[in-house]
Amino acid sequence: MKRLDGKSALITGAARGIGRAFAEAYVREGAVVTIGDINIERARETAAAIGPACSAVQMDVTDQASIDKAVDSVAEARGLDILINNAALFDLAPIVEITRQSYDTLFAINVAGTLFTMQAAAKHMIAAGRGGKIINMASQAGRRGEPLVAIYCATKAAVISLTQSAGLDLIKHGINVNAIAPGVVDGEHWDGVDAKFAQHEGLAPGEKKRQVAAAVPFGRMGTAEDLTGMAVFLASAEADYIVAQTYNVDGGNWMS
Ligand SMILES: NC(=O)c1ccc[n+]([C@@H]2O[C@H](COP(=O)([O-])OP(=O)(O)OC[C@H]3O[C@@H](n4cnc5c(N)ncnc54)[C@H](O)[C@@H]3O)[C@@H](O)[C@H]2O)c1
Repeated sequence: MKRLDGKSALITGAARGIGRAFAEAYVREGAVVTIGDINIERARETAAAIGPACSAVQMDVTDQASIDKAVDSVAEARGLDILINNAALFDLAPIVEITRQSYDTLFAINVAGTLFTMQAAAKHMIAAGRGGKIINMASQAGRRGEPLVAIYCATKAAVISLTQSAGLDLIKHGINVNAIAPGVVDGEHWDGVDAKFAQHEGLAPGEKKRQVAAAVPFGRMGTAEDLTGMAVFLASAEADYIVAQTYNVDGGNWMS
C-alpha cells in the first residue's frame, strides 16, 4: 500500500515549482492528481510529463466561477479527498510605494483564493461524508514582517489565521486543515523575487539569493522536493489527529 492510494487530489498553482513537486510526490504515493492553474498550457505540459495519473484544469483562484467549475469537475469525475491551496503571487515595495493594485491582487490570489477554494472543496468533502485533507501554503513571511514585503507577509499571516479557523471549524466533518510554511525555496518563483530585490536594493542579479542561502542554518536554500515529505504526511491518514497547525519546513530559517 502506498500512502495516498485511491485518493484524489487537487493542487492549485501546480504547473511549476513547489506545486509541481507536490503533484509528482502524490502520484508516486498512489494518488490521482489534478493541477488547477491559471497557466493551462504549462499545467497541461506538467501533467503530461508526470503521467496518466495527473491531469490539468484551467483555474483562476481569483474568480469564483472558475473555482467552482474546477472544484466541481474534479469532485464529480473522481471525488475530492485532498486540496492543496498552493497558488500565490509575490510582490515587494517600500510602504510608501505600495499600490492599491498590488494590495488587491495579492490579497485576491493569496487570501481570497485560499479561502474560497477551501470553501468549495469543503462543501464537496462534507457532502461525500468521508472527510478530507486541506493543506494551505503559508510562508515564513507569515510569521513576521519584512521591510519591503508588507503585503505578501500580511497575506501569508492571513493564510495561517484562516488555517486555524477553518481547521477548528471543519474537523467535525473529518476534514483536517493544516498549512506548510516554507522558508526560501529556489526555483522560478525566487528568480522573480531575486530580480525584484535587485531592483529595490541595488543588488547584482543572484546576490539576494546568495544572501538568503547563506543565512539558512541548514546551509542552502530549500528545493521544492524538500517540502514533499510534509505535504504527503499531512495528506495521509498518519495526520488524522493534526488540526489547524502550520509547520515550518525551512532548514531552520525561522528559528535562526
Ligand atoms: N518559493 C519560495 O521560496 C516560497 C517560500 C514560502 C512560501 N512559498 C509559497 O509556496 C507556494 C508555491 O510557491 P512557488 O515557489 O512554487 O511559486 P511559483 O510562482 O513558482 O508558482 C505559482 C503558480 O501559481 C499559478 N498561479 C498564479 N496565479 C494564479 C491564479 N490566479 N489562479 C491559479 N493559479 C495561479 C502560477 O501560474 C504558477 O504555476 C506559494 O503559495 C508560495 O507563496 C514559496
